[in-house]
Amino acid sequence: MLTTRPTSLCVGFFLLFLSLPLSTLSQPSMSSDSVYDSFLKCLSEKTKTPQSQIAKIVFSQTNPSYTSVLRAYIRNARFNKSSTPKPTIIVTPLSESHVSAAVLCSKPLDFVFKIRSGGHDYDGLSYISDKPFFILDLSNLRDVSVDLADQTAWISAGATLGEVYYRIWEKSKTLGFPAGVCPTVGVGGHLSGAGYGNMLRKFGLTADHFIDAKMVDVNGAVLDRKAMGEDLFWAISGGGGGSFGVVLGYKVKLVPVPATVTVFRVEQLMAAGAVDMVHKWQFVGPKTDKNLFMRMLIQPVTRNKVKTIRATVVALYLGKADDVVSLLAKELPELALKKENCTEMTWFQSALWWDNRVNATQTDPKVFLDRNLDSSSPGKRKSDYVATEIPRSGIVSLFNKMIELGKIGLVFNPYGGRMAEIAEDATPFPHRNMLFKIQYSVNWKESSPELEKGYLNQAKVLHSFMTGFVSKNPRGAYLNYRDVDIGVNDHGENSYKEGEVYGRMYFGKNFDRLVKIKTAVDPGNFFRNEQSIPTLPIAKRTGVTERGTAKRWSGAGGATIVASVLLHVF
Ligand code: FDA
Repeated sequence: MLTTRPTSLCVGFFLLFLSLPLSTLSQPSMSSDSVYDSFLKCLSEKTKTPQSQIAKIVFSQTNPSYTSVLRAYIRNARFNKSSTPKPTIIVTPLSESHVSAAVLCSKPLDFVFKIRSGGHDYDGLSYISDKPFFILDLSNLRDVSVDLADQTAWISAGATLGEVYYRIWEKSKTLGFPAGVCPTVGVGGHLSGAGYGNMLRKFGLTADHFIDAKMVDVNGAVLDRKAMGEDLFWAISGGGGGSFGVVLGYKVKLVPVPATVTVFRVEQLMAAGAVDMVHKWQFVGPKTDKNLFMRMLIQPVTRNKVKTIRATVVALYLGKADDVVSLLAKELPELALKKENCTEMTWFQSALWWDNRVNATQTDPKVFLDRNLDSSSPGKRKSDYVATEIPRSGIVSLFNKMIELGKIGLVFNPYGGRMAEIAEDATPFPHRNMLFKIQYSVNWKESSPELEKGYLNQAKVLHSFMTGFVSKNPRGAYLNYRDVDIGVNDHGENSYKEGEVYGRMYFGKNFDRLVKIKTAVDPGNFFRNEQSIPTLPIAKRTGVTERGTAKRWSGAGGATIVASVLLHVF
């Protein structure tokens, strides 16, 4: 057993130097100048702001700041190339009324309307499209206000998780929030897609802590929970951003954290017993004390010129080091955890440590306010769920396959605890009773298209290799680990069928309710992306009632849809 030098849990920083922009405008009827002019005029009228002023938040491709605004929140360098499709316009609202106006002014122009908060979508869906598109970039809407009296916070879509943790820490050392481990992830995508972090066994998903929300709907109306109703509130509590409207923010319940928590990182190579340790971990990680979250990283490495597998447990224990050492001596002796592997610290410092700040106890908390603009490496992620422990022989064959592939790694995130106590339909996220989630993870530095193809292929091959070991009918996937390989939607006449493929993998039975809600709140499918929730085909809409105003809308693929208006009950 060895303690290890940390490898990055977040995407490492690697800049590709690429020339931008390349015009991708292919709108048949309007030049980019007239699109810009007409959008600006509309925005100025709707917000009652002079055009010269509102122009400061609208970036056409000829604006000198266009490239830096676009690239600031591209968090996967795979999509930061000169060949990557570029938006015709980027809008960076400063207020709710700007968001409403942007929705209303985009509708008649028939561009795909991409919404971006932190830009961490693994397949770049918040900032790329193969059709002409706009980007609504919410990074300026970043208020986080913490209310100690009722232990809640309003967090805006454009805030990062680092900012959320920092603002909580400023006010309280014994309150925390159960969200993701990477501080630059954005609230808008992360929370609307369910969200999880290293307290999920104790407190469940991020979405389990929503009290209220604010969003702008397809009619430009700003809705809170009461105004949107429980169905729509349910849908944006894990059903994903970009299908139902623009999320402005959430009111969340904070959670109590102990004054002292413990972190540790321990690794084993194959020769030192990694197979047995990983095999046994499956029986312990998802069943042990709820206060313990032990993530397992499995990575091919070369040691003494021999390829092998390194298995690393990275853990957070909501308690003292002595207690977790004696717990794991009983439950997982294969890990051989010692007190010297453990560090006690505050919960906020543990968030810094999980972000690979080795000296977390000495680190300035303000680093969590740093957004690290325009920094990322190219990468690919996929996901799976495991319902039954993989046999020891399966772990051996998996390790051998990973050695053969050479680069791709896996991350096992244990469930159980609070996760298994919550009903599968309480939120759109259905995978509550799984033992653990697998993330397939590969990042690279080279900009060679050939190598990129090879790395992407490794992800596909390993995913296919795992078929016999993971959930079935449907095979599960985690929405926030966006993966366009599992299906995309062209929003033409087969939209529902196409949506059902990835929709069932992400949402299981909850897909049906999401489709009904989508059909009711956005019948013309204005809010769409390559993996958004589809509307019901017109022929199947009996019994699904729609809310909102009637609107002729020319949808993707050129079909004109007339949304009839009934008042909603379902
Ligand atoms: P981004 O802005 O790219 O949006 C993602 C999706 O949500 C897009 O479809 C977008 O259109 C939509 N969207 C964004 N803002 C919206 C809004 N305001 N209204 C409506 N729709 C909106 N996940 C996790 O659960 N736990 C974790 O620990 C991590 N860790 C992690 C680390 C790193 C380095 C990355 C790159 C990603 C993760 N993730 C994660 C995954 C992350 O939760 C997921 O990518 C989120 O969707 C990112 O949200 P952003 O707002 O940053 O993304």
